[in-house]
Amino acid sequence: MKVLVIGSGGREHALAWRLSQSSRVQRVYVAPGNGGTALDSLLDTVPYGSLEELADFAQREDIGITVVGPEAPLAAGVVDLFRSRGLKIFGPTKAAAQLESSKDYAKAFMMRHKIPTARYQTFTDPIQAHAYIDQEGAPIVIKADGLAAGKGVVVAMTLDDAHAAVDAMLGDGSLGAAGARVVIEEFLTGEEASFIVMSDGRNVLALATSQDHKRLRDGDAGPNTGGMGAYSPAPIVTPELHHRILKEVILPTVNGMAADGIVYTGFLYAGLMIGPGEDATRALKTLEFNCRMGDPETQPIMMRVKSDLLDAIEHALSGTLDKADIVWDRRTALGVVMAAHNYPGTPRSGDAITGLPAAAEDCMVFHAGTKLENGVVRTCGGRVLCVTALGDSVRMAQDRVYKTVSAIMFDGAQYRRDIGWRALKPSQQRK
Ligand code: AMP
Ligand code: GLY
Repeated sequence: MKVLVIGSGGREHALAWRLSQSSRVQRVYVAPGNGGTALDSLLDTVPYGSLEELADFAQREDIGITVVGPEAPLAAGVVDLFRSRGLKIFGPTKAAAQLESSKDYAKAFMMRHKIPTARYQTFTDPIQAHAYIDQEGAPIVIKADGLAAGKGVVVAMTLDDAHAAVDAMLGDGSLGAAGARVVIEEFLTGEEASFIVMSDGRNVLALATSQDHKRLRDGDAGPNTGGMGAYSPAPIVTPELHHRILKEVILPTVNGMAADGIVYTGFLYAGLMIGPGEDATRALKTLEFNCRMGDPETQPIMMRVKSDLLDAIEHALSGTLDKADIVWDRRTALGVVMAAHNYPGTPRSGDAITGLPAAAEDCMVFHAGTKLENGVVRTCGGRVLCVTALGDSVRMAQDRVYKTVSAIMFDGAQYRRDIGWRALKPSQQRK
């Protein structure tokens, strides 16, 4: 079978790489792909203009299954389009993708279906928004309603920062239409975890748990980014919490969508805040939904898949996910993002990358913002690479990753040196 993966990030490189190992997959196309998918002899890179063009390509090439990586094509209705042409595609419809494409929709949905989340109100009028902030006090969180490529959330520690965020979004239109409506919500504390499942609309199959590092610098300092590294599993998600997350968040979401007349198919990602205390009673709240897998969480998750991923996706497309299973490598997988100069601001492009190792069973370099130019791999985006390794412990995975990272060179490279620190015992943490 021929498979098409839509997207250009590290997540898509990892998905395509894993799918290319299925004995039933003859060819994997990645559209538009990146320097890494162009280098890989098992993958083909497909440039495209419009989603219609991509559907034409899928029909012409007789693509058996399409898997969608990022949120933008989902929110634009790529699943609806492919299905209308009789093409099999794994992802949520445009209506279902609103769980990510509108924070206001997601919050109202969670209220309606009693899914635990932070208290909130939605505003389009800046005067009312400012008044609400004064009434609630700081810290407080301001979120653009629409898709803002990871730049739509301001965790304001002071009233000044909160008012400035409202002025930027509702007043100056800094995020365009995405910020013309804002959700203002209660500040939550605790530890975050990413919980990702596959859904066929009725049944869900949980993927391995993971944890992301959103801040740019070591010790979770500096500005928010799309994610500077991740690892799997996340030890905070014990079997008891796993059960609670399915029961309190995931199943009510899939069932709630169905009750609202929307069948949710595809990956579903719940970003969770887990409060302190005993597992049976600790606070468990949903920070956000994504209608796709996480980036960089996908990279370590894909490293741990031991069975045929295509089987699970086929079950999801047939409505038989209850019969599917994924066998996970027991080892820890850990991925470190190497970002370009000036990320998360406007990143510099064009720096030549050297020292890329050959693929290995226990260490892969997934590409994101790279391009292949006359045989040279160059930076062309904010998050450039995600070096991902397996190890018998978090520490061993870290050692393997950082050994590879230190051999890879490009001007202006930035990366965190402490990915995985929460999963280490205090005595093992790097100083
Ligand atoms: P989101 O895109 O909604 O996940 O927000 C991005 C990041 O902002 C999250 O990963 C959290 O670190 C932080 N965040 C979002 N909502 C809250 C909240 N209510 N309280 C504290 N931190 C939050
Ligand atoms: N790593 C967070 C996300 O993909 O949204």
